[in-house]
Amino acid sequence: MRKSKINWRVPKGAELTELDKKVLSFQNKGHLVPSRELIKTPEQIEGIRRSGVINTAVLDLVEKEIHAGMSTAEIDKLVYDYTVSHGAIPACLGYEGFPKSCCTSINEVVCHGIPNDEEILEEGDIINVDCTTILDGYYADASRMFIIGKTTPEKEKLVRVAKECLEIGMEAAKPFSFVGDLGHAIEKHAKKNGFSVVRDLCGHGVGLEFHEEPDVEHYGKKGTGMLLVPGMVFTIEPMINMGTWEVFIDEEDGWTVVTEDELPSAQWEHTFVMTENGVEILTY
Ligand code: MF3
Ligand code: CO
Ligand code: CO
Repeated sequence: MRKSKINWRVPKGAELTELDKKVLSFQNKGHLVPSRELIKTPEQIEGIRRSGVINTAVLDLVEKEIHAGMSTAEIDKLVYDYTVSHGAIPACLGYEGFPKSCCTSINEVVCHGIPNDEEILEEGDIINVDCTTILDGYYADASRMFIIGKTTPEKEKLVRVAKECLEIGMEAAKPFSFVGDLGHAIEKHAKKNGFSVVRDLCGHGVGLEFHEEPDVEHYGKKGTGMLLVPGMVFTIEPMINMGTWEVFIDEEDGWTVVTEDELPSAQWEHTFVMTENGVEILTY
């Protein structure tokens, strides 16, 4: 069946708003546009923002407590206890069978690492801790990198450049720009620094569910991908590799994503709302 591109639908009998007209003009030119349901109400945005406050506090706590000699299961316990004691739910726990409350991804692990009692942080490790919080049904999703003690200059650069990629993506995400615009900007910065961008995983719409439309790819061509309309809430979460962009999934646990060449990878993530003036971070 032919996939319909028409997905901005104005309710029958409703008068077209200025926003409807603007989005429809992009749609008529053949661009991929969001469905109207992806535009959050101010009340929904406030709910996601409140969830983001807890999400940020969880990551602040991890930042304060993380140290060499700690197991990734201890990080998971911090995340679970803080989240639950603040009336929220860790979204990862039980999500499609994921067994823990956050993802802990060390060195060559790109993402979706499973916290474990036997996995102990060592001096020089770089680790991504990715937490998603549900508060009153609203989702906020963010992750940060942590360097354990002192690491190599190369790994330090990778962590820094991955963060710059997120910031550059944020700046490129203007209202009525396209997902491909921010992907292009991120890819350019990664390549300029001799790194590659993971292509098999992407950012995503978020807020009422864990993963909503659109896919936010961290590479691509300007002017392609979905139109970014004020009121959309989504993550940007570039995964930047020191070597090849190719990855594989650990067959034993079915989750852990690892670089094909087993060189290190780094990732930073925030949840954003698109406004009339650009993106605003909801996970600060
Ligand atoms: N938080 C991850 C993301 O950024 C998703 C983790 S799903 C899990 O989209 F099941 F692995 F927790
Ligand atoms: Co995410
Ligand atoms: Co995440």
